[in-house]
Amino acid sequence: MMVPRAFILLCLIFLRYLPVLISAATITLDSIEIYKTHEWLPYKPTVYFLCKGENKTTLPDVKEKHVLYTFKGEESWQPLTELPDKKCKRCGFYEQDTIKSDDVFDEWEFCASDFTKSDGKYIHLKDKELNATFLCPECVPFGNATDHSSTSKNNSDGMHWALIVLISAVVSTVFIAGLVTAFKYWQKRKRQQEQARFLKLFEEGDDIEDEFGIGPLDGVV
Ligand SMILES: *[C@@H]1O[C@H](CO)[C@@H](O)[C@H](O)[C@H]1NC(C)=O
Ligand SMILES: *[C@@H]1O[C@H](CO)[C@@H](O)[C@H](O)[C@H]1NC(C)=O
Ligand SMILES: *[C@@H]1O[C@H](CO)[C@@H](O)[C@H](O)[C@H]1NC(C)=O
Repeated sequence: MMVPRAFILLCLIFLRYLPVLISAATITLDSIEIYKTHEWLPYKPTVYFLCKGENKTTLPDVKEKHVLYTFKGEESWQPLTELPDKKCKRCGFYEQDTIKSDDVFDEWEFCASDFTKSDGKYIHLKDKELNATFLCPECVPFGNATDHSSTSKNNSDGMHWALIVLISAVVSTVFIAGLVTAFKYWQKRKRQQEQARFLKLFEEGDDIEDEFGIGPLDGVV
């Protein structure tokens, strides 16, 4: 069967968009300011970021309260984490404690859909604790797709739909192509089998004729 060129094109487009569909977006920390420290001993605090089930990311520079620390996103400990499209993670900022269990600045459900602004920034603010700005330009389409008040929703929603239609088209094309191929194969097999059976019948007929035809003749001669 000849594969239509449009089908190959569809496959290529599908493969091009597949990574976007399944991969998670990387989150970097853009800036942070802590408003207090929890340690009562006169140590410098050790602040770290942690998502449940992942490793701690210690922020080595953050030592003073009421100082805004800004980052380039390329620091050795970046990126902070990754967020999948449709699943939030439980994350937080903590301070290591020398004696008791670690103190919590804040812990919250961190979602890719939080990034609704076009600059890809999300500010997480907790009163008297901290103000952290995260950066995730890849998350913005996710954020706007779930933002129902936004006028630009149609745009990314349209893209989502286009993608769904595209995938459906590819899947049904493959399915139909498979069906047609299977049917043609089955037809061919059936024809071959019929031919074989016919030939066999023919040969058997010959044999029978031989046995019955030649036998009596032998007797006569
Ligand atoms: C956590 O760190 C350990 C080693 O320090 C590493 O083997 C492991 O892959 C890390 N896990 C994640 C989720 O990054
Ligand atoms: C996402 O929506 C916000 C408004 O909620 C808008 O300001 C922004 O430009 C949109 N971003 C994109 C990439 O469409
Ligand atoms: C939090 O930090 C961001 C980025 O530095 C800043 O734009 C914003 O004004 C801060 N918010 C407060 C309440 O301090």
